[in-house]
Amino acid sequence: MSQPGARAEERNGKPAGGRLPGGEERARLVREMFDRIAGRYELLNTLMTAGLHRIWNRKVVRATGLQRNGWALDLACGTGSLTRDLAKKVGPGGYVLGIDFSSRMLAAAEARPQPNIEYRLGDATDLREIPTGSYDTATIAYGARNIPDLDALFSEMARVVAPGGTVVCLEISRPTGRVSSTFYGLWFDKIVPWLGARISGDAWAYSYLPQSVKEFVLPGELADIMRLNGLQDVTWQKLAGGVITLHRGRKRSGSGSN
Ligand SMILES: C[S@@+](CC[C@H](N)C(=O)[O-])C[C@H]1O[C@@H](n2cnc3c(N)ncnc32)[C@H](O)[C@@H]1O
Repeated sequence: MSQPGARAEERNGKPAGGRLPGGEERARLVREMFDRIAGRYELLNTLMTAGLHRIWNRKVVRATGLQRNGWALDLACGTGSLTRDLAKKVGPGGYVLGIDFSSRMLAAAEARPQPNIEYRLGDATDLREIPTGSYDTATIAYGARNIPDLDALFSEMARVVAPGGTVVCLEISRPTGRVSSTFYGLWFDKIVPWLGARISGDAWAYSYLPQSVKEFVLPGELADIMRLNGLQDVTWQKLAGGVITLHRGRKRSGSGSN
């Protein structure tokens, strides 16, 4: 259902003063926002992470346990940064499918085609076209915090991987240590919105970012959601002093659907 304040807040360049909307309204805001910033997304990502996102991508690839010739599904793939790293790992005999609901983010990904990557427009919480157990791994990087229905997301991720396959989620989180929280407050609450507004020309997008992190579940809660949705051996590690969290779970061996 549409929230009356949402469009005014977009015009004012501010995220929702209270909580961000959920459901369809949230999906629309997020999709339109990524459509608007697609052209500048990779540049901003590099600036805002000081290039560290490449290292975090490599950690995701390692956590998937992917081998050469493997199959990977990269949800909320955006401009394909992680998708390309997964494709490099599986090599020419493997296959990676990237799914995103922003056509402009996908267009940027498709501008760098690779024979072992396919991109598709779609919603990460509704993978009905993908057969159960058909992938070795399913990943999502910086996507989960945009998706209010985490049960739908992780149940689908668990469903589409084969028994013994992995589900990996990389996300921004709020650190708890004193030094890292001070750094986080300065960086994400002040510098990111300022820099993002100037480079992307979209103030809402880069105020939305810290707000969405604030409202996202804690790492332990995310691990519980993954377990409740058919994953086992769920672990998480903190990267960059707790600013980034990497979760990994495994689908039960011998499980049929999830
Ligand atoms: C911050 S970007 C991350 C892109 C990429 N994974 C990366 O590592 O750079 C978040 C992406 O999630 C996508 N997204 C958000 N919600 C989605 C959903 N429900 N289904 C598909 N894509 C979604 C957005 O369109 C956007 O491209």
